Order: sequence, then structure tokens, then C-alpha cells
Amino acid sequence: MKNIVLFGAPGCGKGTQAQRLRDHYGIDHVSTGEVIREHIRRGTELGRSMETCIAQGKLVPDEVVIGMIGDYVVTHKEGAGCIFDGFPRTTVQAEAFDGMLTGHGLKVDVMIDIQVPEEELVRRILLRGKESGRTDDASEEVVRGRLEVYRAQTAVVSDFYAAQGKYAVVDGMGTMEEVFERIVAVIDGLKK
Ligand code: AP5
Ligand code: MG
Repeated sequence: MKNIVLFGAPGCGKGTQAQRLRDHYGIDHVSTGEVIREHIRRGTELGRSMETCIAQGKLVPDEVVIGMIGDYVVTHKEGAGCIFDGFPRTTVQAEAFDGMLTGHGLKVDVMIDIQVPEEELVRRILLRGKESGRTDDASEEVVRGRLEVYRAQTAVVSDFYAAQGKYAVVDGMGTMEEVFERIVAVIDGLKK
């Protein structure tokens, strides 16, 4: 099982590339953002508790996403592997993730950081916001706030994987196909 963490700021292309990688490698894709939005759509108690957080572009509490991914790992541990998109997003999440994977004899193979300049991130998200219906895509103020949250709380998670020799950077500018090929080159270059 190969476990790949797709990392990077809001709008860098994690979701776009995760779908392509899932089809290319026949492995699974889980996005904590999607799982949360699904809870909100279904109006579950958990969804209602996270609605304001999401709309304001803040991170939801670590224990909530750690619980979600914990459930996911338990039910998918026999699978061919997975693309984790948007998780882990804090060092606390990264440490908990390592612990739960190790408990099942699994590990993260690589974190791939898709890097895109800030103005392009804002442009992409506001463009998508015209149709996505995502509450956190609607205003430039919230989008810039999400980027600030990324810098303040999430960017540091790359150090956690770099220290384990599991961190790769990919240029996220160019066409979706070009970015995809760069990511595939990293994954195919991993030791079996
Ligand atoms: P999440 O859903 O993870 O959103 P995000 O990280 O803000 O990122 P996006 O989904 O906006 O962007 P993306 O990188 O997936 O890019 P995409 O492929 O869509 O999280 C949302 C919220 O949930 C968080 O703010 C937080 O509240 C909560 N949450 C989630 N995980 C959490 C966690 N672990 N801990 C705590 N809270 C958590 O691309 C963006 C756009 O650009 C698209 O329109 C796409 O078509 C376009 N595009 C993609 N690639 C290119 C390209 N090469 N050229 C031009 N356009 C492109
Ligand atoms: Mg996404």
C-alpha cells in the first residue's frame, strides 16, 4: 500500500491532482475538506458544529479530523493505498497520523508539496467560487484568511516529513497535465 500526502496551500490543485492520481494508480482518495462538506450537506450534528469554522476559513479542531481519518484508515487498511488530500494540516495531526498508521503496520511514503504563488491561488479560488457554492470560496477576504491560516498553522508540517526524508516539492504552475506529470515522476521515483 502506498500512502501519499498531497500538500499545499488552498487552491494549489490538491483535489484536481488527487482525482487524476486515483485513476492513474487505482488507489483511493480521501479529502478531509470533502468529508467535512458532506457532513454539512447532510446536516449531521458534527456538520453543524463545523459550519461556521469552514465558512470563516479556519481549521476545524484536530481531534475531529484525526477521528475521521482514524475511521478511514481502519476501514481501508487492506487497500492498495491512498492519496490523503488536505490532511495532515497541523503537526498534532501529523504525529497522530504516524501513530495510527504505525499501529496498522503502515506508513506515509511521501508528502508532495504543490507550490503556487499566492496571487495565482487567489485567482483560482475566486474563479472557482463563482460556481462551487463553497462558502469559503466566496470572498477574497476569506480566501486570503485561508492562506494566512496555511502559513501560520500548516506550512510547518512539511518540516515533519522533511525530517523523515519523505518530502518532495513540485511546481504547481503550468497546465493540470504538466503538474500531474511532475507528481507522477516523484511517485514513480519512490523506492518500491
Ligand atoms: P479543503 O477542502 O482541503 O480546501 P483547501 O485546502 O482550502 O484547498 P482547496 O480545496 O480550495 O484547493 P485544492 O488545493 O484542492 O485545489 P483544487 O484542485 O480544488 O479544506 C477546506 C476547509 O476544511 C479548511 O479551510 C478547514 O476549515 C477544513 N479542513 C479540511 N481539512 C482539515 C484538516 N486536516 N484540519 C483542520 N481543518 C480542515 O484547485 C483549485 C482551483 O484551481 C480549481 O478550480 C481547479 O480547477 C483550478 N486548478 C487546479 N489546477 C490548476 C492549474 N494547474 N492551472 C489552473 N487552474 C488550476
Ligand atoms: Mg480541495
